[in-house]
Amino acid sequence: MRKSKNVIYIKNAQQIEGIRRSGRLASRALDLVAERLKPGVTTEYLDKLVHDYITANGGIPATLGYKGSRGTIPFPASSCISINEVVVHGIPGPRVIKDGDLVSVDVTAILDGYYGDTARTFLVGQAPEVARRLTEATEESLRLAIAVVKNGTRLGDIGDAIQTHVESKGFSVVRYFVGHGVGLKFHEEPAVPHHGKKGTGMRLKSGMVFTIEPMINEGVYDVKVLSDGWTAVTADGKLSAQFEHTMAVTADGADVLTLSD
Ligand code: MF3
Ligand code: CO
Ligand code: CO
Repeated sequence: MRKSKNVIYIKNAQQIEGIRRSGRLASRALDLVAERLKPGVTTEYLDKLVHDYITANGGIPATLGYKGSRGTIPFPASSCISINEVVVHGIPGPRVIKDGDLVSVDVTAILDGYYGDTARTFLVGQAPEVARRLTEATEESLRLAIAVVKNGTRLGDIGDAIQTHVESKGFSVVRYFVGHGVGLKFHEEPAVPHHGKKGTGMRLKSGMVFTIEPMINEGVYDVKVLSDGWTAVTADGKLSAQFEHTMAVTADGADVLTLSD
């Protein structure tokens, strides 16, 4: 039996404004992280900033207590903080951030029942040149992908935009995790792969809301998940970066909903 959870929700204007408000809250939490991120701070300190900022503004951190679909422990924090070879879903804790670290922070806020999901990668102090190139290529790939989104765009056009760009720089696209519909729930249909071929896949429709969140690796695209059930690392131990936005499809473009102002 086909389950109703496979439907793609088309959001109305009021719902999109609700998602924009939660997305703005998540983005402002990342602004706060950016201000406080420096060598010597712990990831749990940054996580507490995110937690307190979201709750003080009437929101709920969506990751806190979130039960994944892969039969793991509930996620124990208000943000995912993924350092260097950690691809995604790093669990904040006593780890101290060092000069030269590549730090990806992913925040999802719930406000009035709407979900906004966004992530950025930050470089701390004097990061290696390859970390800079990787981070720049990842951010640029998200920008290029957003630029192809509009009513009628095919899913493969998004993956192609990301893959073509980062592979031209010698980097690789993680396959194991994908973008996703979002807004009324944390993870909705459709799955949004970050690799693909132009002119293939489903056509986007106005009112669809989803994330694009490329995870780009310095070396091989394979990942492995550690025994905590969450932390995903690169199979070769090399660096990984990620940027994520939540957006709504419109007749002539993408309306990015995870901006700070
Ligand atoms: N925010 C992540 C995403 O982009 C999901 C994190 S789930 C968690 O989809 F449990 F690891 F926090
Ligand atoms: Co997401
Ligand atoms: Co996210």
